[in-house]
Amino acid sequence: MKVSIAIDGPAAAGKSTVAKIVAKRLNITYIDTGAMYRAYTWYCLENGINCQDEAACVAVIDKVHIELLENEVVLCNGTDVTEVIREPYVSSQVSYIASYKDIRLALVDLQREMARNKSVIMDGRDIGTYVLPDADIKIYQIASVEERATRRYDENVQKGIDCTLESVEEDVRKRDYIDSHRDFAPLKPAPDSILIDTSFMSVEEVVNTIIDIVNKKVKGESVNE
Ligand code: CDP
Repeated sequence: MKVSIAIDGPAAAGKSTVAKIVAKRLNITYIDTGAMYRAYTWYCLENGINCQDEAACVAVIDKVHIELLENEVVLCNGTDVTEVIREPYVSSQVSYIASYKDIRLALVDLQREMARNKSVIMDGRDIGTYVLPDADIKIYQIASVEERATRRYDENVQKGIDCTLESVEEDVRKRDYIDSHRDFAPLKPAPDSILIDTSFMSVEEVVNTIIDIVNKKVKGESVNE
């Protein structure tokens, strides 16, 4: 059976870590929508465009071509931006770009096209509420802001990204605020989503919880029990 899984939640809640593993275990496609907003942001910064200038950012919409390859490589106009889009200078601007409706509409079109006719797990902020409102399973993954900042800081250190725990926590708080207060498709749980608080859960536990939910759903049982 074709299955679509939406995972939403605030910054650095571990959505992509979990989604990648679930995708491998279920042999379905993982779609990282945040990478698309990050790639668009990178393009604007590369071209000297102020990310807080909506008109200027939207004006280049036809010039930005973003591709997500099967191996999780992210291309922007053919350039491999997989690593650079995780840098703090991109993170600090991405929520402005993601608040512009015209840019969202263009990227959502791409996301829906990628999800057409196949089983997917897609993570972001508005997947269950806007991009895939009919998703079979909707997860809203949270953790305390301190825990999320610590996880992202550790991840950054492993990748050799220069930052401090304080700067990461500030970025996470700022993005959460902008993402949940924008007018169009803000970050919020879909009414039919299942909340998973991962503050005290290991990655393996979260993955198993989601796989259990999928298995129950596939057997036709209610997943909200
Ligand atoms: O991995 P992390 O939680 O830090 O963020 P991400 O998933 O890479 O998303 C980066 C940013 O893109 C978010 O802070 C949002 O501003 C934006 N975003 C969005 O608005 N809608 C999505 N579906 C995905 C990401």
